[in-house]
Amino acid sequence: MAELAKLGWYRESRLSSLSGDGRLFLWYQSASISFGWVPMDYERVVYLKSEIQRIGEETLRELKELDRQDALQELKVKVLGKKGSLTALLRQMGGLSPEERPMMGQVVNDMRSCLEKAWEERGVELDILALQKRLTTERIDITLPGTCVSRGHHHPLTQVIEEIEDIFLGMGFQIAEGPEIETDYYNFEALNLPKEHPAREMQDSFYITEEILLRTQTSPVQIRTMERLYPALPVKIIAPGKVYRNDDDATHSPMFHQVEGLVVDRGIRMSDLKGILLNFSRQMFGESREIRLRPSFFPFTEPSAEVDVSCMLCGGAGCRLCKGSGWIEILGSGMVHPRVLEMGGYNPQDVTGFAFGMGVERIAMLKFGIEDMRLLFDNDLRFLQQF
Ligand code: DAH
Repeated sequence: MAELAKLGWYRESRLSSLSGDGRLFLWYQSASISFGWVPMDYERVVYLKSEIQRIGEETLRELKELDRQDALQELKVKVLGKKGSLTALLRQMGGLSPEERPMMGQVVNDMRSCLEKAWEERGVELDILALQKRLTTERIDITLPGTCVSRGHHHPLTQVIEEIEDIFLGMGFQIAEGPEIETDYYNFEALNLPKEHPAREMQDSFYITEEILLRTQTSPVQIRTMERLYPALPVKIIAPGKVYRNDDDATHSPMFHQVEGLVVDRGIRMSDLKGILLNFSRQMFGESREIRLRPSFFPFTEPSAEVDVSCMLCGGAGCRLCKGSGWIEILGSGMVHPRVLEMGGYNPQDVTGFAFGMGVERIAMLKFGIEDMRLLFDNDLRFLQQF
């Protein structure tokens, strides 16, 4: 009786007596439990009740120790699931008498709801704990320096081309382009270089067919531009791009770059050419540069001139770079040949023009002090990263 009282599912006062034959007179009253003398297997009831108590306490203890939501769920299945320990006890109740069953049912259900409440509370607790943990471990320190993605930069030749473009754009030029696969007509013929002309030999060319080749110079863009713009005036363009010749040594590459220049308008004179090129040379190589024009020959200009700039290394006194002369050749130029103006559609009686063409590799080598042109095309980062 004392044990029963300890288990707490009836009050002493309500229990009238426990008979010697194992029957219990129950005053316990509820909708489902009758009262009166009921047969009770005292041993079994006490055992079941203590088992329920044990499972409950054990579960509550485990619950306190759990620190993850999924473990919480696992434990729930282990206790309350189909094969759970509490459910197993419920099954054993099949062997109870009809009087015992509702009483035990009540105990199991009480325990069940007590555990469910505990589960719910622990669940909320774990949510809070998990959030706190995330807040401390996943904190982002925005003051930490970011992972540096190393930045690339333009190839020295591209840098030089862009600088040349900027200088001429600043003087009111526009940028024109033409194809790298060119016809013999634009590359030679329209530039006053008919077939069998000996000057063609200066440009050892890559022919695709007899009439089509990789352009050997940017000069064909002169003709293409005049054809496109005629009769507009002035024509004032530069044409940067790749050109191809069958050469390969320390100062020649089979592919290299040129920038062509062309100005056509009424009254254009050689002094205009000189002024533009002096301005360009000073912006490119330094304010104290001078230029000089030496007579030369190009089939598409008359008169023609090579343009030298005073040595950027020694300033004109003479050194290794300028081979003691104080001057360095940077480009070819001249007054546009009347026949070339005609080929472009313009009337040489009406307009005049000047043209020039420079090698970008040469300008870059002079500007950066590079001695072997092939370095520009080796793609060696140790070299390229210096610019
Ligand atoms: N096209 C020439 C060459 O490749 C360079 C040149 C010289 C271009 C004189 C010109 C010029 O426009 O007037 O060697």
